Amino acid sequence: MIIVLLGPPGTGKGTQAAAVKNRFGIPHISTGDIFRRNLAEGTPLGLKAKGYMEKGELVPDGLVLELVSDRLREPDCAKGFLLDGFPRTPVQAEELDRLLALQGTRIDHVALLEAPDGTVVGRLSGRRVCKSCGAVWHQTHNPPPESMICPKCSGEIYQRADDAAEAVLNRLKVYASQTGPLIGYYENKGLIRRVDGSKPPAEVEKALFQALS
Ligand code: AP5
Repeated sequence: MIIVLLGPPGTGKGTQAAAVKNRFGIPHISTGDIFRRNLAEGTPLGLKAKGYMEKGELVPDGLVLELVSDRLREPDCAKGFLLDGFPRTPVQAEELDRLLALQGTRIDHVALLEAPDGTVVGRLSGRRVCKSCGAVWHQTHNPPPESMICPKCSGEIYQRADDAAEAVLNRLKVYASQTGPLIGYYENKGLIRRVDGSKPPAEVEKALFQALS
């Protein structure tokens, strides 16, 4: 099963990805998580991506495509995978189709999570994330431990630089202009499954599983 999770920042792609991964037994590939891990480790890839990410701009297609094509060749992707945050531009979408065609596979579903801008701004400003394992909390709906130490992996819980108000507004604009066109691209292929991401997490999960069945 090959699934793409599409949707503006803060609609819950990372949150729902954990459930989809378990349900279908496929790896969760988040390009944002891969870049953040590289940044934390100070790798050349992380350092190249840093400036773009902090401002809420997209990392150039060439860098993203290199890391995704390497990742999709790993053995755990043989039976499918869940892509979160990729593709994000028409060039990335076309290149993904080309890579999959070379392997004799194709995307099964593109789940589009939707929520109003006001909702996602509130979610992102309250989001806290584990620097090591990527686990996600929200200051109001799902508060992290007071120690700000992750109970799953003992990593540091922090606020992402791109969750600052100015960067969030830029990310929404970037999504509309550069990623929005992918909705039409996948609609033309009959792959879009729309899911209301503004509901509570358990309801979103139920609707998402229905859309993917
Ligand atoms: P990335 O990490 O992909 O960020 P994003 O797409 O902006 O998505 P987010 O992680 O912000 O939101 P989400 O939808 O996963 O929401 P979450 O579940 O965490 O990308 C970051 C950056 O990396 C990009 O800006 C770019 O620079 C670069 N990058 C990555 N991929 C790239 C690519 N392909 N090309 C170029 N550049 C790339 O939820 C958010 C909050 O809401 C959490 O606090 C959560 O607890 C809460 N929440 C979730 N669901 C609900 C709910 N139903 N009800 C209430 N609260 C909820």
